[in-house]
Amino acid sequence: MARILIAHGPNLNLLGSREQHIYGATTLAEINRDLEREASLLGHETRCFQTNHEGELVDWVQTHGAQADILILNPAAFTHTSIALRDAILGVAVPVIEVHLSNIYRREPFRAHSYIADIAVGQVAGFGPHSYKLALQAAHQVLGGETKTAPQA
Ligand code: DQA
Repeated sequence: MARILIAHGPNLNLLGSREQHIYGATTLAEINRDLEREASLLGHETRCFQTNHEGELVDWVQTHGAQADILILNPAAFTHTSIALRDAILGVAVPVIEVHLSNIYRREPFRAHSYIADIAVGQVAGFGPHSYKLALQAAHQVLGGETKTAPQA
């Protein structure tokens, strides 16, 4: 059993109503519920968090990061701005998988830079809410589990 942190940055509390043409109709509560269910089927424990405040996210990473095995993180707009968040992740040395619902490389140029990408184990972007599920499968594999989607030899 591993401890998986799941964190969502600013405005992701509005998922379901926010810019549906980009982010879809699924709410954050639905995303978290699906992730918690899937993670527990894989035998893992999860802790979910969302905040609109950079300092709160830094505090949360500092408080929970060191005890966790991996962090699945959608930093939202902080992706493109937050050296503080990057430093917090490095400070507690928690492996991170960066997640985005949208393909940040197909949007405004300022979204193409991430302060997290080069310190992440990997990044999943562009698959809507499914990005999170793919990230969970990746986390499971990184943690030493077998992927359900792996082709049989
Ligand atoms: C996002 C992409 C970011 O550029 C944006 O600021 C968000 C959401 C995504 O999930 O696609 O808030 O992280």
